[in-house]
Amino acid sequence: MDALVIPAKKPKLDGEIKTAPTYHHEPKDKEGSTTITFTLKEKVGILASALNVLQSHNVNLHHIESRPARNNPESFEFFIACDNTTGGLKQAIDDLRNYSENLTVLARNPSKSEGTNEIPWFPRRIKDLDRFANQILSYGSELDSDHPGFTDPVYRERRKEFADIAFHYKFGQPIPRIEYTSAERKTWSTVFKSLVDLYPTHACRQFNHVFPLLVDNCGFREDNIPQLQDISEFLKDCTGFQLRPVAGLLSSRDFLAGLAFRVFHSTQYIRHGSKPMYTPEPDVCHELLGHVPLFADPAFAQFSQEIGLASLGSPDEFVKKLATLYWFTVEFGICRQEGELKAYGAGLLSSFGELEYCLSDKPEVRPFEPEKTCVQNYPITSFQPIYFVADSFEDAKIKLKHFAATIPRPFSVRYNPYTQSVEVINSKEQVINLTKDIKGDLSLLEDALSRVNN
Ligand SMILES: [Fe+2]
Repeated sequence: MDALVIPAKKPKLDGEIKTAPTYHHEPKDKEGSTTITFTLKEKVGILASALNVLQSHNVNLHHIESRPARNNPESFEFFIACDNTTGGLKQAIDDLRNYSENLTVLARNPSKSEGTNEIPWFPRRIKDLDRFANQILSYGSELDSDHPGFTDPVYRERRKEFADIAFHYKFGQPIPRIEYTSAERKTWSTVFKSLVDLYPTHACRQFNHVFPLLVDNCGFREDNIPQLQDISEFLKDCTGFQLRPVAGLLSSRDFLAGLAFRVFHSTQYIRHGSKPMYTPEPDVCHELLGHVPLFADPAFAQFSQEIGLASLGSPDEFVKKLATLYWFTVEFGICRQEGELKAYGAGLLSSFGELEYCLSDKPEVRPFEPEKTCVQNYPITSFQPIYFVADSFEDAKIKLKHFAATIPRPFSVRYNPYTQSVEVINSKEQVINLTKDIKGDLSLLEDALSRVNN
């Protein structure tokens, strides 16, 4: 079940309408619940008529909210959640279109039945990411039997502590600081030492620009495991990216949605000390040494956010393709700089062995072409046999945007950094408003150019 936006004032329409002054009521995710948003022109009785449609098809309502439409004070936007297990919901939606404009169906658990045209639920506000904590695919303390820490009760207990911190974390809170043990710091030290000597020759220019800043500002040192909160503040200053702890594995859809808000879900625990050069899953070494430096680069941050925005409300097959593009770029990307190949993917920059291997003549390298790259199979437990090379982050972003334009979605999305929310653009009025915003930016550009030229 979804939650939606804020009813700013009590509407004058008839019918039973719940309002809240600032934050709306957030019902729990519910199996068998479908969310619909639509707009009605203010007219006495029209809401009752719309709701009668649901009743006539025996569809039960779980929740209803409203607010004045942003672009037309004469209209009201409605958000309803209803039972999709009983009654004729599909027929009711078809009939409801006769009374409404901009009708959109959002579903946390899209129905498999054909012809419903449901759009998977996605977060609209950064705070909505809190809801992913309940959606993890496995809790971080559940280890597979071949995990190096599987038979170590102390390690398993420690993993549970980390998982609990992340599970209870809420947006806006400082990320709890960890007092890492000497054994954990020793593991970090081994990984750190093995990698730092390779960075100047193997990592991309942007990585090598940021890394010393992390040493100076966030305690990136051989004898210290940096704190997520310090890094998150640093990234916010650089690009607006931030970290949030994650208790376990997220689905691709949820993980990519975080990127749309410039939020990176990060683990906080470290790999098992018996195998410091190996980890079967992301850990703090992978996140901090591999991912964090590039999120401080504006072009890379923008590229990462574009993947996230493209994923919102996309069909499952496209989320899978976007996850594959993420894999071959953010995780295992290589770029060309001054005629040489350099690594920028986090899976490479956090792996001593693969960082050397990826730039050797052993693997195959191909140009990054999203429509081809997105269907490439890849192994997850061994070095990659194929890497994709980007000419630049800017070029990769443009290509990705072209790819995103092919995703079948009945709307566009835009991130609003002032409200940290995603705006769905699916009506003529919104497009007109967008044009006005762009005009505003153009006049700023014109002004800046005239001042620079003087
Ligand atoms: Fe990663």
